[in-house]
Amino acid sequence: MLASFVVVLGLLGTGTTYDGYKVYKISAKTESENVFLRHLESDPRYDFWSRINKVGKPVTVMASPEVQNELEQYLLSHKIDHSLEIDNVQRTIDAERRYHESRGTNGRISFNQYLRHDEINSYLDQLASDYPDLVTVSTIGQSYENRTMKIIRISTGTAPKPVFFVEAGMHAREWISPALSLYIINQLVENPGNRGLLEDLDWVVLPSLNPDGYEFTWTSNRMWRKTRSPGVMCSGTDGNRNFGFHWMENGASDLECSDTYAGKEAFSEVEARNLRDILDATDNIVAFISIHSYGQYLFYPYSYDVGLKPDNWQELDDLAHKVNDVISAINGTEYTIGSSTEVMYPAAGCSDDWAMGGAGIDIVYVYELPGGGKEGFDLPPERILPVCIETWEGIKVMADSIAQDAK
Ligand SMILES: *[C@@H]1O[C@H](CO)[C@@H](O)[C@H](O)[C@H]1NC(C)=O
Ligand SMILES: *[C@@H]1O[C@H](CO)[C@@H](O)[C@H](O)[C@H]1NC(C)=O
Ligand SMILES: [Zn+2]
Repeated sequence: MLASFVVVLGLLGTGTTYDGYKVYKISAKTESENVFLRHLESDPRYDFWSRINKVGKPVTVMASPEVQNELEQYLLSHKIDHSLEIDNVQRTIDAERRYHESRGTNGRISFNQYLRHDEINSYLDQLASDYPDLVTVSTIGQSYENRTMKIIRISTGTAPKPVFFVEAGMHAREWISPALSLYIINQLVENPGNRGLLEDLDWVVLPSLNPDGYEFTWTSNRMWRKTRSPGVMCSGTDGNRNFGFHWMENGASDLECSDTYAGKEAFSEVEARNLRDILDATDNIVAFISIHSYGQYLFYPYSYDVGLKPDNWQELDDLAHKVNDVISAINGTEYTIGSSTEVMYPAAGCSDDWAMGGAGIDIVYVYELPGGGKEGFDLPPERILPVCIETWEGIKVMADSIAQDAK
């Protein structure tokens, strides 16, 4: 659907316009109201900005001017509580674009702006050259459009240690995800105060898992989520439905134009294969986190069907609560915690399920970072640093606990 609105490729910010698009906050109070929401979600004309949850948190949905009336009537007739969250999506996108056009060109990393894919890669290469004893940067492959996908390994000493693996940038429009992963890298490499976090663990970070989609959000369509591999009617596959563990079972779409399209087959997307292959090739990964936005959820597998939890779920749950305690003490940000399908409806083919069920990693989490409000995915640049600072405190707690267990 969205793809059909793409007008021109080219200059920053041209392309799909979201003039008059509205975002609704919808609060289902009962299971039967959630059934109506799931019906809406299967309709590609509605863009669900958050997964439908089971914990009474509202869901945000974007609707074009053509379908707003129908959506409002539908919600009214089913008596589902809703309110207007964003009146004109294009206005927030324009504000964000003005900010980026006026930004400075300082060579080093800064966390008051989002970076392009090439800038992310340049930062990694810069670190590799500045900190050769600490940092190894390698290429894990190319994206569909031949962008170079890199990982960074941060390691002290001579022998490899258990690995904490961080994946970011799966969903193109979730810009805070790669930003946080760069902050993690920055803290581990450039802040000597954090050397203790490298004593018992090596860190491997993949900051930009969907570079084609990400660049597309800068050049053409700010709200793009999927990869950019071509289809018959619509482009792109949802990378987070494409992994080959119970692929296409629940909560994934076989409609090419859907934002949760699972792809022609498991691992049809080269970006998903690149992640799979580097997980396979990396020895002794003890923890894996997948960073998304938004909604303030911290959950663990399994995502593919209801009621499934790993044997160590209690341990995962306890640690998630410790993480939340530390984060919420900073500025009140509260995460909702549970197994994936305790807090959400099923979604088969996600990387968290693959990490645990396919790659055999014991400690696996998905972060849905803060966002939303009047901005949605356009978390303003001045919010990057506060979100990174508080989330990093939680990730340190996670790492300390994992390091203890790995000893
Ligand atoms: C990627 O590079 C390969 C090898 O050079 C080329 O055959 C292919 O057409 C390129 N793909 C795209 C989408 O540009
Ligand atoms: C803390 O939270 C308040 C209320 O949500 C917000 O206005 C403020 O910007 C936050 N400060 C930081 C540093 O995150
Ligand atoms: Zn996401």
